[in-house]
Amino acid sequence: MDIDCPTASIRRYRDSVEMRRAYPGSSVHYEKNGVILLEDSGIAFDDAFIGAITFPPNWKKIGTVDGITAVPLVYQGGKFVRTQSPLCMGMPDDLMLLKIYSELVRLELGFKLLITQIFPRYSTVLWGNCMFRFTRTENEAAHLDAFLEGKPFEEIQKNPRLKFFLNVDSVPRVWNVGPTLPDILKASRGALGRRLPSDLNVLCSRINDSGILERMPVVRVEIPPRGIVFANGSTVLHQAVFGQRMVSLEGWVPRSSLQSSSVCEWDLVRQWVAEAGYEVGDEVGGERAAER
Ligand SMILES: [Fe+2]
Repeated sequence: MDIDCPTASIRRYRDSVEMRRAYPGSSVHYEKNGVILLEDSGIAFDDAFIGAITFPPNWKKIGTVDGITAVPLVYQGGKFVRTQSPLCMGMPDDLMLLKIYSELVRLELGFKLLITQIFPRYSTVLWGNCMFRFTRTENEAAHLDAFLEGKPFEEIQKNPRLKFFLNVDSVPRVWNVGPTLPDILKASRGALGRRLPSDLNVLCSRINDSGILERMPVVRVEIPPRGIVFANGSTVLHQAVFGQRMVSLEGWVPRSSLQSSSVCEWDLVRQWVAEAGYEVGDEVGGERAAER
């Protein structure tokens, strides 16, 4: 670690009552690229059962967009009939099928309900994927979240992002948390070239490919069982060091749902890039960006 740079600020709350009391300061902290660790979310699930489930490697990122919490059985013509739910595949036992389904639905709904309770202005959220990452992971690369192979987003996609991670394993999940995106840009001191994109997704992809993140400082964070990390992975450097079972929840809110002192990350990129001494406006994404 040879780059001098502060890491993102981390706030801790013991439980959801303490976190709710800290509102709206908690929300302001998240929206300013801070990280929150809620040590005990209180979300109810059968931890002994969930702790015994492991998904195959090709289910590493399976979630609600794949229909994992769609109903697996329907009543048709006087009998129960299995649906196309991915849970039905390879699970011959109906009792086990319904048990897994009920636990995943409980986790999804409990997680979403908690968010609207502790962040009431996020009740406008448009939920994206809720992933059930029940596959062991270790020593992933430190990164900023980037999608679509680093291509620019459509205007309609450029909204404030919510990203939360619930540890449903019986042992702590271990993360490294690094600096925020604006601090990474400043600390890079021109190492990213002359011009940088104003599109957040292209920028994150470009930085991921630059090799600079390996030299950024990180702090180790242990997420206890039933704990949640709140961190916008596009604006905070992060790395999964160890984990076995986690539920990740992603969504977007309209700008009007942010606290009055907050600005959407998409609207700040030009400023962050310029303040770090780069020219703004190189929007080349995708494969050509990877060539740099
Ligand atoms: Fe990530």
